[in-house]
Amino acid sequence: MRFILAKDATDVSQKAYDFIRKSILQNPSLTLGLATGSTPLELYKLMINDYKRGNISFKNIRTINLDEYVGLPEGHPQSYRYFMDYNLFNHIDIDKNNTKVPNGSAIDLNKECEDYSSFISKNVQDIQILGIGSNGHIAFNEPGTSFNSSTHIVDLKESTIKDNARFFDNETEVPKKAITMGIKDIMGAKMIILLATGSSKAEAIYRAIKGPITEDCPASVLQSHPNTVILGDHTASFWIRVNREPD
Ligand code: F6R
Repeated sequence: MRFILAKDATDVSQKAYDFIRKSILQNPSLTLGLATGSTPLELYKLMINDYKRGNISFKNIRTINLDEYVGLPEGHPQSYRYFMDYNLFNHIDIDKNNTKVPNGSAIDLNKECEDYSSFISKNVQDIQILGIGSNGHIAFNEPGTSFNSSTHIVDLKESTIKDNARFFDNETEVPKKAITMGIKDIMGAKMIILLATGSSKAEAIYRAIKGPITEDCPASVLQSHPNTVILGDHTASFWIRVNREPD
């Protein structure tokens, strides 16, 4: 695991995009694992701007997203499919048939999970982008999730439902379940880039990098991945910079 200290969120995004850009120029049909949430938004803007300036094409890449809510109607503005279309796919030349987001409206959700994991094993992510939760979660793999998990359905924690309520008209509308790539699916990626910005991530970043490898902190599993880069801005890297355990 390699840790790179970045100045701020813009620098985190630029450094992440430098890796992605270089890899796409080398392999224009690579497979990119993508995340939603606020952290990668600036990265997606950089991808769009670079495309609009005519510097790069995403025409032949394939993307696989980490997760999706269960039960939101198709086209719901809070669905992660909508998020990806709105914040990235609609603005670049990607073939949407090559963009995969778990189907949270599938009638047989267990089959959807099996199919998703099997798809990933046949289309291994060349680069997987990750954010991190303040409790160390990656995708919707909350503390306690088995490191051996493949794509599965999760019951969202009360804290996650509360956190996400700000995006819905009221808390009762927030889905109670989600479908998420498992930790094993994530660890299969050839390269993982985790982005962390803001002080709310500082403790999780310390535990992910310096703490014991434990299912209590899902991101700590990345210590055993052969090619992971953690990009942290100044505030998210606070405990790493002062080199002591969070108070
Ligand atoms: C998103 C995802 C989540 C987020 C994490 C951080 O697809 O799987 O694990 O990466 O919750 O979210 P933000 O970036 O909003 O702080």
